Amino acid sequence: MSTEQKKQNKGLVIVIAAIAATGGLLFGFDTGVISGAIPFLQDYFVLTDSQVENLTALGLIGAVVGALVAGPITDFLGRKKIILASAFIFATGALWTGFAPTVPQLMISRFYLGLAIGASSFAVPLYISEISPTKIRGTLVSMFQLLITVGILAAYLSDHAIADNDNLECWRPMLWVGIAPAVILFVGMIFLPETPRWLMSKGREEESRKILNRIENAEYVEDSIAAMKSDIDIDKSQANWKEIFKPWLRNALIIAAGIMFFQQFVGINTVIYYSPKIFLAAGFQGAEAAIAASVIVGVVNVVFTIIALFIIDKLGRRKLYFIGVSGIALSLVCMGLGFMLPGAGKWFLVVSMLVYIAFFAISLGPLGWLIITEVFPTKVRGIGASIGSLSNWGFNTLVVWTFYKMASAIGNAKEVVVPEGQDLSDICPSCIGSVFWIFAAVAIIGLVWGYYFIPETKGVSLEKIEAHWRAGKKPKDL
Ligand code: BGC
Repeated sequence: MSTEQKKQNKGLVIVIAAIAATGGLLFGFDTGVISGAIPFLQDYFVLTDSQVENLTALGLIGAVVGALVAGPITDFLGRKKIILASAFIFATGALWTGFAPTVPQLMISRFYLGLAIGASSFAVPLYISEISPTKIRGTLVSMFQLLITVGILAAYLSDHAIADNDNLECWRPMLWVGIAPAVILFVGMIFLPETPRWLMSKGREEESRKILNRIENAEYVEDSIAAMKSDIDIDKSQANWKEIFKPWLRNALIIAAGIMFFQQFVGINTVIYYSPKIFLAAGFQGAEAAIAASVIVGVVNVVFTIIALFIIDKLGRRKLYFIGVSGIALSLVCMGLGFMLPGAGKWFLVVSMLVYIAFFAISLGPLGWLIITEVFPTKVRGIGASIGSLSNWGFNTLVVWTFYKMASAIGNAKEVVVPEGQDLSDICPSCIGSVFWIFAAVAIIGLVWGYYFIPETKGVSLEKIEAHWRAGKKPKDL
């Protein structure tokens, strides 16, 4: 194959990955946008705090249901159709939530949007993983995580630009902004091919070869076809839920659920959510603190995810995991300390938080979504990745839901009395700090778990990973 041809192929694959990764932008945007809209929604509909909690929870529950339902459908109907359906739901959901005339409609439309977040959050990285050449698979799937971080930042900036204290209905345009990337994803996806691996699993060899010829180096095409074929010959039965619980796939399941457990239980979303308070504590004032926190955290998150993109296929998954999770553990210990130390601890706290975000962005952020698409065989890859995704959303809900409860339990143990109208963290910063130490302990356990379970999938074809499990070998020996 000529160098020119190789360049063309690589260019095409990057375009494919970029369009598909717009799904990541929607994931980040639609999870982030609601926080800026809530204060206005709450005043407009006169919502109680518990109604606001329900609204947030319904989005998350929608994501769990979306991941669960879409899993088997992606194996049956293909990756592309699920992404198209998600894009449709993203667009119509954004329109509907923005138009919602009543509280029940707002709740239902948020649940509806959640379905797309859950389904696309595994179908998009899965699509990219199956269509990428082995050598740059890590980089391309990490584009999905990069766009999640860009989406979170974009939602924040767009909310901030639209917010208008004189217009209680400004939450409507905030939510409508999400329609634009959804339309781009939908139209772009119409022109993209199905993945060669899924086509092959349905016996559509010629179509699969045609796509492989456009994306892989010519010398690998026939080898890839032969490897896919032999996998399919070994296992001709239909994909189903029972299949995935077979003993030879046990490690793959533990890896997918485990990495999402650690991704969420090191407390990423509580840190992101808590950042305005931390900036406030460091001496920034009121609204300025919230803006500075969200922008600085968002930018650090984006920048370090870009760095991850460049090193993930060079350093490999295991090294990045150990470097990242060690840094996360250490910075969480420092954050905890920052809460305990009065005065001088504030800047220490801000710096530790930014270091924490940076370590997360180069490791657990991209690795979680990448690994769940790598460890399962083609036939059950959709169901497998969807289990990873629903673990992610389930653990996410659990951590956010228990964060304050953990801090209050520590406060109760210390017999801290919180006066009416005051916040626990104002009375007892060390109660919050202790929760970050709990997250640090989880990260340390994650290091031990990772030693046994994180496989080095760098440069290994998806077919070879499958053969490794079939041979009954351990994850760390890949
Ligand atoms: C996680 C999200 C998190 C985001 C932050 C993603 O990988 O799944 O829960 O909010 O990273 O960048």
